[in-house]
Amino acid sequence: MSRSNRHIELAVIGGTGLYQFPGLENIERHAVDTPYGHPSDAVVVGQIGARRIAFLARHGESHTIPPHRVNYRANVWALHHIGARRVIGVNAVGGIRHDMGPRVIAVPDQIIDYTSERLTSFSDVAGTHVRHIDFSEPYTARLRTDLLTAAGKAGIAAIDGGCYGATQGPRLETRAEIARMRRDGCDLVGMSGMPEAALARELDLEYASLSLVANWAAGCGPAPDTAISLPEIYANLHTAAAEVSRIIGALLSL
Ligand code: HPA
Repeated sequence: MSRSNRHIELAVIGGTGLYQFPGLENIERHAVDTPYGHPSDAVVVGQIGARRIAFLARHGESHTIPPHRVNYRANVWALHHIGARRVIGVNAVGGIRHDMGPRVIAVPDQIIDYTSERLTSFSDVAGTHVRHIDFSEPYTARLRTDLLTAAGKAGIAAIDGGCYGATQGPRLETRAEIARMRRDGCDLVGMSGMPEAALARELDLEYASLSLVANWAAGCGPAPDTAISLPEIYANLHTAAAEVSRIIGALLSL
């Protein structure tokens, strides 16, 4: 498709449990071709009131793509190509920190990347200029602040800050892995926060994460010996999806 000349206010990358953006009107679907292959699905562009937003389901609209197989480069490139300049990554996470239990929403401010064998940069074509990026602050401060303000306006008490530990998945972690991550300083654990955030920075996109706590991470919470319930994860994410759309709605009217 050709680059749209109508302004896109915001792009949202939906994670597990968020495969469509509720309330979008005048929808167009764009199958974007990228130099890095196919994005996870069509980019859906639609309106909320007078504002246009783009939505992309990170794992595909039928959740067929596991986190280690997501084509993060194609996804981020496609959103940039259609004209998005601000991107919210919605991430399902497990909670490690004592105040980050199920159904909490957090806007993390740091990342530790434990993933492996993912394509992590646009700078890997032989003979082309290598671009290094500053990633000391992996999320865009202004967009984080806007998200927190929007959550407040929507009556949702999102937590400001926290370190997101990105794991390879698709399996959940062992208790020992989470204990190590806690010692490292991680507060949340998820599988899809990286390399998405770094790729967004490489393209100079503003980027922040809305992290939805679906469960206590392995060995955390009041019943550390209990196995993690997958149905409970999906139920919590289902509830959180409605809150995400309220936060994004408030963000658009800031
Ligand atoms: N670990 C990693 N990713 C997750 C988790 C978890 O416990 N819950 C939801 N996404």
